[in-house]
Amino acid sequence: MDRRELGAGTRLVRAARSLPSGEGQPVVPPLVQSVAFDYGSAAEQDAVFGNERPGFVYGRYGTPTTAALEKALAELDGVEAATCFVTGMAAIAAAVDACAISRGGRVVAPEDCYGQTRALFERWVRERGADIAFVDTTDHASVDRALGAKPTTLLYAEAIANPLLRVSDIAALSEIARRNGAALAVDATFATPILIRPATLGATMVIHSLTKYINGHGDVMGGVVSGSAELAATMRDRTILDGGYLPPHEAWLTIRGMRTLALRVRRQCATALEIARHMQAHPKVVRVRYPGLPDHPQHALATKQFDGLYGGVVSFQLRDDTRTAAFRFLDSLELAASATTVGDLFTEVLYPATSSHRRLPADERKRLGITDGFLRISVGIEDTEDLVADIDRALDRV
Ligand SMILES: Cc1ncc(COP(=O)(O)O)c(C=O)c1O
Repeated sequence: MDRRELGAGTRLVRAARSLPSGEGQPVVPPLVQSVAFDYGSAAEQDAVFGNERPGFVYGRYGTPTTAALEKALAELDGVEAATCFVTGMAAIAAAVDACAISRGGRVVAPEDCYGQTRALFERWVRERGADIAFVDTTDHASVDRALGAKPTTLLYAEAIANPLLRVSDIAALSEIARRNGAALAVDATFATPILIRPATLGATMVIHSLTKYINGHGDVMGGVVSGSAELAATMRDRTILDGGYLPPHEAWLTIRGMRTLALRVRRQCATALEIARHMQAHPKVVRVRYPGLPDHPQHALATKQFDGLYGGVVSFQLRDDTRTAAFRFLDSLELAASATTVGDLFTEVLYPATSSHRRLPADERKRLGITDGFLRISVGIEDTEDLVADIDRALDRV
């Protein structure tokens, strides 16, 4: 049976179940911690080193457990191959540097991307003279203009942007990129492979922070770049020389975590929609941003592109748009953790102005809509009524 015909939930449960294991097939892939591999034959080892035959030689070149995760992730994203890194940022840095910056290639990126991604790109502009233009990737005319202004190597997008939750039209962006001779990289961390498989819509490469939904248990950091076999060879060169390869124990935990990805994400999307609707009617909240609400600028696109799911993150602005009010809200939460991450089993609330977007100048932050009373909730799998009560309690104290 071609596994790609199966639903995402089924594929996830079965993921990484077929490591070559000599005698018998383990149902759960073994955790192989060994750094080095002995072939008992120098010639064989040489053939593996030289890529003439598959195998493992040393931890930075590949490990059986990380390879099992990579195979599962490639299958999930619907691509040829995937390469895992120690963090999502390491994956982004390797992909964008190798495919554009180190070759002198120009990049067009979202103005509202994850704050540290933007900080990394701006550092490359300052320190390496990189040519990176920042645009609103939901405004196709401005993306087209930016790409057409000068030869551009890479268009970078987030499927659901962090933290403003703008939704990018991946099929349209891949068409614009193709027309302008650029590759398209999509960070699908917030959308997850359950909502979207960007490569099937024309993206050249897909990036996820494994730290978030894919592992989902708040106990692993990791990242992945997936795409063609050729891209994987370029990425492998990065892990070998830059040393950012995902170690086996993290890979094993990620395989374990990702088996429930479909279950978790569907539940988180359902609860997030209820929370977004509830908060929209709350007098202490002036604006709720959630792709599932009809007033979201890309609501129709999200409905079509994500097949009726809208993600597990809800952003909102307090009517009292001050840091004091935001801190009071955070300190009043009893169930939700005040934590700098998303996508875990437990609900987490973030204040972007002092965390993910701390490095962005205050005026640029405010221009984008990340005001002093702006907060982001990553909805967990707790009972919806309990979360709503916790949020209401905290809003009452604002
Ligand atoms: C959209 C997005 N991409 C990438 C990253 C970076 O991932 P990591 O923290 O695993 O380096 C994050 C982290 O929050 C993120 O939100």
